[in-house]
Amino acid sequence: MKGEPAIRPEHLSELAALLQRTIGLDVRPGGLGALRLALEARSQELGAAFRGAGAYLETLQSEAGEEELRQLLPLVTVGKTSFFRDERQFAAVAALLPDLLARRRAEGGAVSIWSAACATGEEIYSLGMSALEAGARPRDVELLGSDVNPRAVAAAEAGRFEARRMREVRADLRHRYFEREGEAYSARQELRQLVRVQTHNLASGGYPSSRAGGWDLVFCRNILIYFDTATVQRVLSWLRSSMAPGGLLFLGYSESLFRVFDGFELTEVAGAFLYRRPAGAARQARRTARAPLAPQPPARQARAAPLQGPPVRTSEEELAGAAELLQGGRFVAARELLEGLLSRHPQDLALRLTLANLYSLLREPERARESYQAALAIEPLHAETHLFYGVERLGAGDAEAAAQALSRALFLDPDLVIGHYFLGRCREAQRDVQRARLSYANAIKAYQRNPGARRKPFLGYYPDLSEDGGALARSAAYALAAL
Ligand SMILES: C[S@@+](CC[C@H](N)C(=O)[O-])C[C@H]1O[C@@H](n2cnc3c(N)ncnc32)[C@H](O)[C@@H]1O
Repeated sequence: MKGEPAIRPEHLSELAALLQRTIGLDVRPGGLGALRLALEARSQELGAAFRGAGAYLETLQSEAGEEELRQLLPLVTVGKTSFFRDERQFAAVAALLPDLLARRRAEGGAVSIWSAACATGEEIYSLGMSALEAGARPRDVELLGSDVNPRAVAAAEAGRFEARRMREVRADLRHRYFEREGEAYSARQELRQLVRVQTHNLASGGYPSSRAGGWDLVFCRNILIYFDTATVQRVLSWLRSSMAPGGLLFLGYSESLFRVFDGFELTEVAGAFLYRRPAGAARQARRTARAPLAPQPPARQARAAPLQGPPVRTSEEELAGAAELLQGGRFVAARELLEGLLSRHPQDLALRLTLANLYSLLREPERARESYQAALAIEPLHAETHLFYGVERLGAGDAEAAAQALSRALFLDPDLVIGHYFLGRCREAQRDVQRARLSYANAIKAYQRNPGARRKPFLGYYPDLSEDGGALARSAAYALAAL
């Protein structure tokens, strides 16, 4: 690059805008440094053919630009991946496959699985091994991996992985499905023949279909985080249309659709949170498949969709009566009233929760646990139930179970300042200072994201818990300072 004008900030901004338009990549100001490195690396690859950043950007936008963009993509996209990434999700796949295989076999079809943004293929080969372990024969499954980066696709196609990457694969699976070739392992024919790969840009539509039409399982993990909101919403709408009714979408651990897209129902399978395309939505979804790329209005959260029908609400006066008794410290009378009400309205979530909270206050952990579990049976994805249960477990000295319940609450509602705060206290109880700090900082951030917001009062009544985000954020700040 000697003698050529340097890469200037405006070149980087222009490149960021181009990547945003073409592959939906959301390069924030802090990410421009990474773009600079990518551009420098590409200039070195091109040698004398690179005639400055300005000329390069012109090429990218010319007719020949598409091919050059393909060469640049490996340098600007993050391809980090691994075999069986996220154990819980693969446990969910193992739990789902027997029934799915039996159903599709009975119809004479195949279970179809698409790993969108599959990077170098570890994900799709992990899915292939899961299918074979579940007893699938080649005709029973259709596995597609796709990625925008052609080099990644070529690597996935080859099905050859460095030995150090294969350490993530259980030894018995490694021996069954791979053969060693020097410093690498190659997928054996039994596995390799299941997997098909192709290039595909999630941001540009033209989504692949399965042989039967819609995909049963779609993995689209650790890619939405790189997209801006409008692209995420567009991609989700397309993904949904490409899925079979009732099909399941797997996202990355930190990719919640909370307030982003409400076209899926959140569900839990073997401890993993997944998004289901509602079974009855086929016609509407087909219509949106080629719909104009208009961003959707802020969505109602998917988690609000109850999986077993809406809980029957008790009259508010009845619950208010119990709350008044609780507030006056008349716990025995409140308990009698709540137990009586519950025998008449066993499906009432607010009543269940309030009674569970009361048992917790009365230090009756067994009864409290049963009541929280009964509340979760009514609505498994209710953030406050997980939150209250977590607080109860922390009070009972079971920090591990408390942290688990609070993490679930926060997955379902990342804005719960109180959830972050109590998770911080769990981490302190677990003597994990680093994670305690992180949780307290998250409590403060969650409050700062929306300081003026008055949150909807908790559904269940919990006399000891503050709903004041500001006060909780202050408590978190004090706790943080003390650590
Ligand atoms: C962090 S990796 C995730 C790989 C894998 N899904 C996982 O979770 O282990 C992200 C992948 O998304 C790909 N990618 C980036 N933009 C894309 C787009 N617009 N369409 C399809 N894939 C894209 C990248 O090339 C990269 O391989």
